[in-house]
Amino acid sequence: MPAPELRICLDETDLDAALRLDARRGLTSHPKYLPMRLHYGGRGSALFGELTRQPEYYQTRSERAILSDRAEEIARALGAEPVSVIELGAGRAEKIRPLLGALDRDGRLEGFWPFDVAAGEVRDVLIELATAYPDARLGGIVGDFTRHLAHLPDDHGTRLVAFLGGTFGNFTGMERGQFLRDLREALRPGDWFLLGADLVKDPEIILAAYNDAAGVTAEFNLNVLYELNHRLDADFEPDNFEHIALWDDDTATVDMRLRAMKPMSVDVAGLGLDLSFSVGEEIHTGISTKFHRAELDDQLQATGFEPVRCWTDERDYMGAFLAKAV
Ligand code: SAH
Ligand code: AVI
Repeated sequence: MPAPELRICLDETDLDAALRLDARRGLTSHPKYLPMRLHYGGRGSALFGELTRQPEYYQTRSERAILSDRAEEIARALGAEPVSVIELGAGRAEKIRPLLGALDRDGRLEGFWPFDVAAGEVRDVLIELATAYPDARLGGIVGDFTRHLAHLPDDHGTRLVAFLGGTFGNFTGMERGQFLRDLREALRPGDWFLLGADLVKDPEIILAAYNDAAGVTAEFNLNVLYELNHRLDADFEPDNFEHIALWDDDTATVDMRLRAMKPMSVDVAGLGLDLSFSVGEEIHTGISTKFHRAELDDQLQATGFEPVRCWTDERDYMGAFLAKAV
């Protein structure tokens, strides 16, 4: 069994430089903002894992049900050729495993490549999967899926890029278009894209997933302030901020923020920045857009993909969209 190949597109120095740039740009803007990828790595990734187990966070259970109930069907829809699976923003790569199993049983799993900005997650997944798939080519990519899609493995067979969890909804509208165009550019005609998306439903159900009763989403959101304290020698007092999740019906988007509960100054020593917050001032920490099936099909089509099939769970909460690069 050959050792998994690890492609590092971002090392600790790059991550540190990106953090500095992002934090300076975001915290000196009006309104202040922080990019969503700051939520991950270390404690952030562990908190994300915990929030996916909260009863209100339907996304993970619904998508897991689709991928395990339909694994054989999805594998058949990919044709008869060997397939290399690449999972963007894989995290622990849990939901993809039934599909890997179905392809493997069919003798068609050529390789699996988790791709994530969190190096620890990529390494852990490779260790876990090495014994399960001794005949497949395993490799990992530590990188940013908005910048490093050109580093996808160039295996001979067909490639399937999976992007699950609804992470596509964490992009802005412009970023979504750019991402799909970049992905199409990185693929060959005949390669596949499996997109997991959160579908529009009763806003109360959606908002509850971002305001879980145990407060794990709040902790996940507030954790970015602890990260800034730790990595940029800042003196945020996270207890002075509250987690906010708002629903915008016009854009079908959840907007996450951290709201200052009193006026305060914050010193970000690592950037030489002195920030002031007025009471009620918010830091925008990310969005999560929900989609109608037809709009995703249209967007896939407009960016060089042919929508082939969409599987949903029994409540139509999540959709797994299979499209072919044309
Ligand atoms: N796919 C998993 C995890 C989703 S959480 C699931 O469905 O449960 C989002 C994942 O995307 C995290 O693992 C995070 O580290 C990764 N991520 C976020 N922004 C990223 C970026 N710009 N490039 C690469 N990975 C990113
Ligand atoms: C990773 N992503 C799909 C999550 C979501 O639901 O938008 C991130 C998240 N943020 C707060 N809760 C979950």
